[in-house]
Amino acid sequence: MINVSHNLPLLHQACQGDEHLRATLVDMELSLQGKRALVTGATKGIGRAIAEAFANEGASVAICARNASDVASTVADLQSRGVQATGASIDVSDAETYSAWVESAASELGGLDIFVANVSALAAGWDASSWQAMLETDLLHTTRGYEAAAPFLKRSDCPSLVVVSSVSANLAGVGGGQAYGAVKAALISLASQLAQEIGPAGIRVNTVSPGPIDFPGGFWDRLRVSDPERYANARAAAALGRHGTPEEVARAVVFLASPAASYITGANLKVDGGTLSTVNY
Ligand SMILES: NC(=O)c1ccc[n+]([C@@H]2O[C@H](COP(=O)([O-])OP(=O)(O)OC[C@H]3O[C@@H](n4cnc5c(N)ncnc54)[C@H](OP(=O)(O)O)[C@@H]3O)[C@@H](O)[C@H]2O)c1
Repeated sequence: MINVSHNLPLLHQACQGDEHLRATLVDMELSLQGKRALVTGATKGIGRAIAEAFANEGASVAICARNASDVASTVADLQSRGVQATGASIDVSDAETYSAWVESAASELGGLDIFVANVSALAAGWDASSWQAMLETDLLHTTRGYEAAAPFLKRSDCPSLVVVSSVSANLAGVGGGQAYGAVKAALISLASQLAQEIGPAGIRVNTVSPGPIDFPGGFWDRLRVSDPERYANARAAAALGRHGTPEEVARAVVFLASPAASYITGANLKVDGGTLSTVNY
């Protein structure tokens, strides 16, 4: 259990931007030891940080991505944290292969308690191929993943889903990303509706919407080089005056997925450092 008064000096330093301290300050009992989580798109960035955070909490983890050697090295890293881990090199837009993998991964872990839909096509544009990619990858990989995972989740004593959306869902101008923002908005609606639909079965569904998250090789890291002005504007737009880290998003996902969030469902938690200057009711 985190002792707030005892940790005040640490919290103050963490808030001043100490990466190491931000990484060590989560000490709340999440009750994830021995739980089984599946995270899509988890060899890099936010998905990788989510998988690592589950493993650090003692949960078994199944991951996927397209690049086979990245999958192998990620699985090895997760196993080195002392948990069961499995992975597959698949494209989540290949419906049959993807659904079959969700089922086989859940069986291999001996069941499934948590499903995290993280992959995105990251397709920004008005063109048909961007719409198609966002629908097939972001939207349908979430619904298909849930359908394949549902029989396992229904047998869990603490089942939950977390969908990774984006604050782009709230933006109509720069940053909205056309097909990207529209389909990310659809994901929030989908998760809210699913929360009502399967709440009576005890399954919780929540969304996490990150703001600009910077990490080596990621979208914002590339933009820092290709469009430094937009990179700097995004940093300035955040009330906290900086981009976020994958670990800061991962903590929100892992908390919402965990039994510690047992009465939270249908929520959309923005992890954006105050990028959206709207009133959140
Ligand atoms: N980064 C941000 O600033 C930001 C902000 C808001 C929301 N988000 C959301 O956060 C999530 C993760 O973003 P990220 O920036 O961490 O992405 P990323 O760095 O591009 O990582 C994506 C991960 O998914 C895998 N992947 C991509 N397409 C796949 C596919 N079709 N099938 C299977 N695996 C696939 C990638 O590996 P392979 O390439 O090997 O397949 C990688 O492991 C996305 O939903 C994104 O929309 C990100």
